[in-house]
Amino acid sequence: MNDKQLIQCAFEAKKAAYAPYSGFLVGAALLTTKGRVYLGCNIESASYSPSNCAERTAFFKAVSEGERAFAAIAVTGAKRDAEESDLGWAYPCGVCRQVMMEFCGPAAFRILVARTPEDYRVHTLEELLPNGFGPANLA
Ligand code: THU
Repeated sequence: MNDKQLIQCAFEAKKAAYAPYSGFLVGAALLTTKGRVYLGCNIESASYSPSNCAERTAFFKAVSEGERAFAAIAVTGAKRDAEESDLGWAYPCGVCRQVMMEFCGPAAFRILVARTPEDYRVHTLEELLPNGFGPANLA
C-alpha cells in the first residue's frame, strides 16, 4: 500500500465520523508493518469528555486485535460541508501523538496529514513529538 492509497483509506474512514457536536469530521488509516490497514473515525459523546479521536480509534482497534507494529498513519479532517478553499491541516492532537509514541518508533513512524487526497504533508512522529516520553524511558 502506497501513501496515496493510505490517504484514500483515511478519506473513506472519515465517512463514518460521528461528530454531531463539533461538526468536525476526522478519518484515519493506520498501516501495520505487515501491510494491514485499520480505519478509525472520531466518535463524540453528548457528555463530551468520552469523545475519541480518529487516530486513537484506529490504534485501539488494531492493538485490540493483536497488532503491535506500525509503519504509518494517514489523517484527514474538516468541518462538515467545508468548501475546498476552507480546508486546513488537521494534525493529530497531543494525546494521539502520545498514543503513537507508545507503539511506534519515533524516527521511523510516518504521519501523513492530508488536506485533500492529492495535497498532503509527511512527517515522522519525532518531528511532531520531539523528545517524546515513551516506553524506553521506563525500561
Ligand atoms: N479530532 C480527531 O479526531 N483527531 C485529532 O487529532 C484532533 C481532533 C476530533 C475530536 C473531536 O471529535 C473533533 O475532532 C473536534 O475536536
